Amino acid sequence: MDSFLIKGGVPLHGEVQISGAKNAVLPIMAATLLTAEPCVIRGVPNLSDVKFMGQILTWLGAKVGIEGDTVRVHAKKIKGQGDYDLVRKMRGSICIMGPLLGRLKKARVSLPGGCVIGARPINLHLKGFEALGAKLTIQSGYVEAEAKRLVGGAMFLGGRAGSTVLGTANIMMAASLAEGVTVIESAACEPEVVDVANFLNAMGAKISGAGSPTITITGVKELHGAEHHVIPDRIEAATFAIAAAMSNGEVTIKGARADHLHAVIDKLEEAGVVVERRGADMIVRRGKKLKSSDVTTLPYSGFPTDVQAQMMALMTLAPGISIITERIFESRFMHVSELTRLGADIQIEGPSAIVKGGRPLSGAPVMASDLRASAALVIAGLAAKGTTQVNRIYHLDRGYENMDGKLRALGARIQRVDES
Ligand code: EPZ
Repeated sequence: MDSFLIKGGVPLHGEVQISGAKNAVLPIMAATLLTAEPCVIRGVPNLSDVKFMGQILTWLGAKVGIEGDTVRVHAKKIKGQGDYDLVRKMRGSICIMGPLLGRLKKARVSLPGGCVIGARPINLHLKGFEALGAKLTIQSGYVEAEAKRLVGGAMFLGGRAGSTVLGTANIMMAASLAEGVTVIESAACEPEVVDVANFLNAMGAKISGAGSPTITITGVKELHGAEHHVIPDRIEAATFAIAAAMSNGEVTIKGARADHLHAVIDKLEEAGVVVERRGADMIVRRGKKLKSSDVTTLPYSGFPTDVQAQMMALMTLAPGISIITERIFESRFMHVSELTRLGADIQIEGPSAIVKGGRPLSGAPVMASDLRASAALVIAGLAAKGTTQVNRIYHLDRGYENMDGKLRALGARIQRVDES
């Protein structure tokens, strides 16, 4: 099992190129199941989650080729069952359900189960499928959806914490091949949902309103193959921006979409970070001094939950009290205990973490738990005095392309070591 060994204290300097968005690529790869024609997806990051989705599509009968940042999928003939083992290992694969239901009018997928950040229910996905006329049965850990005909309908996808990103993608994909018009109220507005809608429209779907809380899909008889270039990963961009501020360096972030990052940029500037826009580039450095700042995670276009852990790491360096409130997932504070091992002073009070910032961090061995918590520990290690060892970084490899290589190119002293 690999670890990262980080010698902190080096300000990051230079340029970093942002990779394609993992959370757009996964549902877009699933969407290729909707057509018997070949599809090409470009700008795909080299991630274990992407390889895994490729394995799932192959298992379902599609031909999948991954060369560099291009993924080719040809789902000429497919079967409608997602294997337990495969789906259990990657929750994001629940987004194969909508395309299977749309194309085959039946889908049998294992219930994804929970993960370290929360229960991860799919009740809203299932509510949407039922609104399209599917009959659902849940049996021995699998959910089966079947429909003689998929008929467009109206539905409300708002849940306990706002809308559902993959639920919105799933319903858009199934509804693309339903008869008639589907209207999704309280749809997720994330840029990744817009990217999925753009890919579906390139395949011949008729979707409008993506990016707003009301999405209208007019079903068509069939979809054809398409080519698509994936949007850049706003969460990776935010992670490197925070790394620049934490290390007290100056980093030019290339290839990011600043218009996807308004909430993050707003909070960083409030915390004393300087974010300069030069054309498409973002130049990020720490200002005169870091300031404490309160953050609450919200559905888009609010502050993203996937940047909560990284922002908390930054706030450990800002003198004063910062209150970080997690409103999307019920237990997304796994990084708190590990950050306190680096010397941070953080108390959890219900959905909030109270950060008493300003003390310098000192290196220690820490354990990665989920993708974004791991990223927070790596960037905290960059700022900590001494050596930090981040164990179990397979979590990171799921969602960050070549993170150690990109950080080394910015001057970080970080090595990948094999801990087995
Ligand atoms: C997507 O997960 C992302 N993953 C997550 O990123 C991200 O944190 C999340 O959206 C929120 O932005 C992918 O896109 C692969 P949700 P998703 O359904 O779609 C509740 C990362 O680090 N809910 O929007 O699974 C749910 O419990 C990952 O890259 C229901 O109650 O998230 C949660 O509290 C982590 N019922 C909230 O909604 C449902 O049927 C948001 O979940 C579905 C969700």
